[in-house]
Amino acid sequence: MPTLLELEAEAHDCVRCPLAETRTQVVFGVGNPNADLMFVGEAPGQQEDLKGEPFVGRAGKLLDQLVLEEMGITRDSFYIANTLMCRPPGNRDPRPEETESCRPWLEQKIEVIDPRVIITLGNFATKLLLDTTQGITKVRGQAYPYGKAMLVPTFHPSAALKGGGADVIAKMRADLVRAKRILAGTS
Ligand code: URA
Repeated sequence: MPTLLELEAEAHDCVRCPLAETRTQVVFGVGNPNADLMFVGEAPGQQEDLKGEPFVGRAGKLLDQLVLEEMGITRDSFYIANTLMCRPPGNRDPRPEETESCRPWLEQKIEVIDPRVIITLGNFATKLLLDTTQGITKVRGQAYPYGKAMLVPTFHPSAALKGGGADVIAKMRADLVRAKRILAGTS
């Protein structure tokens, strides 16, 4: 099995889909390569595309705050990546062929990191990894097996910023607590 660094070096030059032509750089993922907890978001936005790091904008700041408040941890102890490694122009939704092209990268990351809990943020990551067409509102509220790991679906932090407000944030907090309990072995 490759190391995460080897995988990242290989992914750097990825041209498996047309997003390679419009991206500034590949946003592979960041954090602890041996993490027990891994987050999977949607796709890089403008700031992530420029910085080469996931969730550095407003949504990321909200996520960091909620994770710190509910789980007491910061980015150096978990890993965070996206369904797509390259920014869709204008932040449009990922297209099915892009998601399929990028899927092997995400699956390899998960295999190498081998987290105990995966938290999917929003519809794209959740539908992909749970292999379901059901939306996040339906599937959140419980944990699902994913290989050797447990998968906890929750809202994307952008949903809270876009007007979901207090209700979305309260549910995200509950999902983070669910993940924390699984990690602690108390659930
Ligand atoms: N939204 C995502 O899903 N991922 C990012 O990296 C930034 C915003």
